[in-house]
Parts: sequence; C-alpha cells; structure tokens
Amino acid sequence: MEITMEYRLAYEILPAVRVSRKADKPWITKLDRNSDLLKASRAKENFEQWKISWQGNKVAWLEQEGQDNEEIIQGILNYIYEGYRLIMLKNAGLLAIGNSFSEVNDALQGHTLSDVRDNKESIVKDKIVVITGAAQGFGKGLAEHFAAEGACVVVADINRETGEKSVNEIIEKTGSEAIVFIPVDVTDSRSVDAMILQTVFAFGGLDLFVSNAGVLKAGGLETLEEDAFDFLTKVNYKGLFLGTKYASRVMKTQHKYRPGYFMDIVQINSKSGLQGSNRNFAYAGSKFGSIGLIQSFALELVTENIKVNAVCPGNFFDGPLWSDPESGLFVQYLKTGKVPGAKSIEDVRKHYEDMVPMRRGCFVEDVYKAVKYLIEQEYETGQALPVTGGQVMLK
Ligand SMILES: NC(=O)c1ccc[n+]([C@@H]2O[C@H](COP(=O)([O-])OP(=O)(O)OC[C@H]3O[C@@H](n4cnc5c(N)ncnc54)[C@H](O)[C@@H]3O)[C@@H](O)[C@H]2O)c1
Repeated sequence: MEITMEYRLAYEILPAVRVSRKADKPWITKLDRNSDLLKASRAKENFEQWKISWQGNKVAWLEQEGQDNEEIIQGILNYIYEGYRLIMLKNAGLLAIGNSFSEVNDALQGHTLSDVRDNKESIVKDKIVVITGAAQGFGKGLAEHFAAEGACVVVADINRETGEKSVNEIIEKTGSEAIVFIPVDVTDSRSVDAMILQTVFAFGGLDLFVSNAGVLKAGGLETLEEDAFDFLTKVNYKGLFLGTKYASRVMKTQHKYRPGYFMDIVQINSKSGLQGSNRNFAYAGSKFGSIGLIQSFALELVTENIKVNAVCPGNFFDGPLWSDPESGLFVQYLKTGKVPGAKSIEDVRKHYEDMVPMRRGCFVEDVYKAVKYLIEQEYETGQALPVTGGQVMLK
C-alpha cells in the first residue's frame, strides 16, 4: 500500500502535534484544504502571492518533502513555539492551531487569537467526538448534547441529506461552530478510513469514538431471510470492528506523544445485547457479539489508555424507530395486533412502558450521562453498562 502524505498527516502527524502541547489540554487544529488554499500550498511562490492579500495572523511555510514523520512534527511544533498559529503545509493546505475550534476558525478567517480560557468547564469541552449514525435518533441527540457542551463533533452517517439537515438544526439550537457532517458507511473499511481522515483534518485528532450506527430487522427462524441477517451483522457487528480499527489508529498516535492522556471508544449497544430477544435474534446476536468485541478491544487497547466500553439502553420510545408515524414499531405492532387488546398507539406504548420498572422508555439524556460517566471514569474498561430503567439487570 502506498503511504500518502494525506495518510501520514491524518494518522501520524496531526494527532501527534495536537497532543504534544505542554499544558493540561491538547490543541484543536484544522487543516483547511479549500481550493484556494490548496493552490497556495503547491509552491513557495504561490504561497508568497497568496500572503499579499492575507490580513490575519502571521503564517509560516513548511516544506515536508523528504522528511520523516518526527521531523515534520518537530517542524510544526517549532513554529507553534515561535508563536505561529497558522502554518501552510506544502501541498496539504493551511493548518490552524488554537485552544478551541472557534479560535481555530477565527484564525482561518483572519481574526487574532486569544489565549484566555475558562477552566470550569464540562469534561467534554473541546473533546473531539465522532458519532456514527448520528443523522437521527440516539446519535443525533448525543451529537446535540456534545455540541451544547462545547465538544467538536462529527456527525457521521450514510444518509447525507438527513445528516446535513441535522447538523444545521444543531448549529441553530446550540450555537456551536464545531460540528460537521462527514459521510460514512460503517460497513465499508475505505469509507470509515476516509471519515476518520476527514475528522483529523477538521479538528486535529480524536478523543471519543461513539459507534452508534445500528439497524434492526425483527423476525423468527422461519421468516428472517439470510440477507437480512447478513445486513444486520455487517452494520451492528462489523461496523464496530471497522470503526475501532481506524479510530484507535489516531488514538494510538496521541498516546505515543502524550502517554497520560485517556481516550474512549463507546458502542451504543442495547438491552438486547444482555438478554435474548424473541424473534429478534439477528439483532440480539449482533449486539451480544459486539460485547465480545468490546471486551477484547478493551484488553488490546488498555496499554494505550484507550478505554472501550458499551452502553446498553432500553427502548427509546420517542425516537424514529418506535415513534415514526408510518413505519415506527408502535404503528407496526398496532396493525399486526402484537399487543393483545391494544386499540391505539397509546395502548401499545403503555404496554411497553409497563414492562420497565421505572415506567418509561430511555431518553437521549440517559444515554448521554452514561457516555459521560464512561469518559470520566478512568478506572474501568471492557464493560457493558445497562441504562434500562431497571428492565435488565446484570448477573
Ligand atoms: N431505538 C431504540 O429503542 C434503541 C434501544 C437500544 C439501543 N439502540 C441502539 O442505538 C443505536 C441508534 O439507534 P436509533 O434507534 O437511534 O436508530 P435510528 O434508526 O433512528 O438511526 C440510525 C442511524 O444510523 C444510520 N446508519 C444505518 N446504517 C448505516 C451505515 N451502514 N453507515 C452509517 N450510518 C448508518 C442511519 O442512516 C440512521 O441515521 C443503534 O445501535 C441501536 O441498536 C436503539
């Protein structure tokens, strides 16, 4: 495989630069690769020409040809220690470095950077978070919470239209500037690789990978087709493997350059990963299997301070899976008479709520709190944390 400069930047150089900061928190960086900047980065003369009309902070020029990764990392750090916050990397684009994503954007737009920061902040502030399947449902809700608390968020989903719409809604609601949509198919290694690469270009590295994309097709042994079984296994099970493979690659580099730094991989699993589910074995099997992956990845990555855990939510009745007015499970169960005696959607909902000791479904907030706990807790890995209102208890 040819190792391109883009690959080296994404997996080795930029994450290393980010965590090499001698302060309590790593930097946020952004590699701006718009066509004008890429043109300016092609040759020193182009760069000098571009600089004539540039009004903002001073910009350094770095030629990385023929250098190994360590030399390039050192070259970037030397400029940063000299006070540069913008570095034009030959043939790669303009790298901006700051305390937060808004500072980075300010620098790219020609504003002056400030060093002032508030220390009393949420644990997720300025963390770089990727959430797969975040165009809707749990993933979208989590993205909104992370954005509201100041994280840099990647909404990664196969559905571009809904994903971009959700990002715009979240920007509107939270005022966050640090949220982007990046397309991904979690079942395709090339697509996952490209998404992680774009994440590092957008924010500089990766602190938390949330493997949330998941699909459900219920059916018993006589009705569920082989294709459906394969589809579920690919998205829910293989998707966790591929996401962890590429996300951990960036995290390992961060660990190498900042050994005391903790990072997280969290899968949004399900109560069906802890307890069998009647006529829903393809889903339950993919979720049970994922817990095997979680435990094994946790053992493999513990030496690099990458914790790997799962959150196992109960039913999210307010999300599209259950509440979609056309295809949601409430409508389906009402039509098929799955709940004896139920005459309305409310009856079906009540039936399922009554199965939960806490008498309600799971909310996004419940899952968000569990994810935050897993980030904050440095002395735990390889766990599957139920968030089910008491419906499923660990044995
Ligand atoms: N909804 C529930 O009641 C519930 C309960 C427990 C656990 N979960 C789990 O939570 C996670 C999210 O569920 P949800 O109900 O919010 O789902 P959802 O159907 O509302 O959203 C899933 C998202 O994943 C995306 N997606 C599907 N295949 C993809 C692929 N190959 N690559 C990238 N993105 C893909 C979809 O486009 C969609 O935006 C899933 O893993 C699910 O198993 C859901």
